[in-house]
Amino acid sequence: MVVLAKRIRQVAASPTLAIDAKAKQLKSSGKDIINFGVGEPDFDTPDYIKEAGIEAIRQGHTKYTPAAGSPELKEAVCEKLRRENGLEYAPKEIIINCGAKHSIYNIFQVLINPGDEVLIPSPYWVTYPEAVKLAGGKPVILKTTEKTGFKLTAATLRRRIKPKTRMLILNSPSNPTGAVYSEAELRSLMEVAVAKKIFVLSDEIYEHLVYDGVKHVSPAAVLPDAKKWTLLVNGVSKSFAMTGWRIGYTAGPAEIISAMSNLQSHSTSNPASICMKAAYAALTQPAQALPAMVAAFAERRNFVVEKLNAMPGVTCRKPEGAFYVFPNIAGTLGKVYRGQTITTCMQMADYLLDAAQVALVPGDGFGAEDYLRISYATSMENLRRGLERMAAALAEGTAPKGKR
Ligand SMILES: Cc1ncc(COP(=O)(O)O)c(C=O)c1O
Repeated sequence: MVVLAKRIRQVAASPTLAIDAKAKQLKSSGKDIINFGVGEPDFDTPDYIKEAGIEAIRQGHTKYTPAAGSPELKEAVCEKLRRENGLEYAPKEIIINCGAKHSIYNIFQVLINPGDEVLIPSPYWVTYPEAVKLAGGKPVILKTTEKTGFKLTAATLRRRIKPKTRMLILNSPSNPTGAVYSEAELRSLMEVAVAKKIFVLSDEIYEHLVYDGVKHVSPAAVLPDAKKWTLLVNGVSKSFAMTGWRIGYTAGPAEIISAMSNLQSHSTSNPASICMKAAYAALTQPAQALPAMVAAFAERRNFVVEKLNAMPGVTCRKPEGAFYVFPNIAGTLGKVYRGQTITTCMQMADYLLDAAQVALVPGDGFGAEDYLRISYATSMENLRRGLERMAAALAEGTAPKGKR
């Protein structure tokens, strides 16, 4: 057997993969599986952005660019941050990465020493703890609950900062809960971070996917000193339906950006030149397709939340952003379904895949038992059919013997 390096052995396989593999297997055997597990918009990349990519190939933009990304795209990111977030950055404070996931990986690699602690509010996106471990750091999970809208409070943050704490991760709008922090909440968190001199990695990839007039605010903008301590991560994947193009970016202190550029120069080199041209079009032209996408997501969210709350044993708060809902299924657990007692969200996800042919992700992978994550980045028709089947499968639950 091959002995793999320690650093990869301690990284958990994505918990979503088991369900995904099973869903694919069932689908290939002819089953009508409805997939609520996907983490990408079901919309196509808008044509004007595709055209910019095609034109880039025609014009011969097919060569290396500087490792930290093309100067024109860095300028476009500066302009975007000025226009939309009220933040002033210079190009030397920007790096273009191969997707926001890559931005996050690089940030940990250049800032985290073995043993450094990174605070991660749960429920969290599955990659954060693993990427921290890959840098030798220690993920410290700060549990949040529905009571605070799945948001970290400044009091909890203050209490949990220890001498080894180096960084806090904030993800607003959040995957998996869809929670969005208000400006006041961010200000109180940033006051603590700045006072305690810890960095804040702010993952803003779902920035534009906010509903009911909720406003996205960057933590970097809430205090005069906040920018110095923030690594702002964003990209084009979700807002422009460009997940496959792999363009993300980081804005932060020049010294850190320069170290990330150094790392990138010895790993990926520049993100794909053609994709950077397409991302340039996305950031510099009016976001023509965004309003219709946001309106569709808002309508689906309302529908899904209503249907879930009507299911026995399920409660679901209405999230303010992203394209996920995170229903609490505690009331469905401990019952017998088709002869089997189901006690965990993993078992429930498995059961729903078998009985309802609906693929969704168990909450424990996000650090939250008793929950499921449902992505509504799929058609209304799929949502309607999938939720109907899910309701019918849950209605089969009976109390265990002795409790009837
Ligand atoms: C919270 C969060 N951050 C980052 C990413 C990754 O974005 P990208 O496709 O730009 O790497 C995702 C994708 O699922 C995400 O959910």
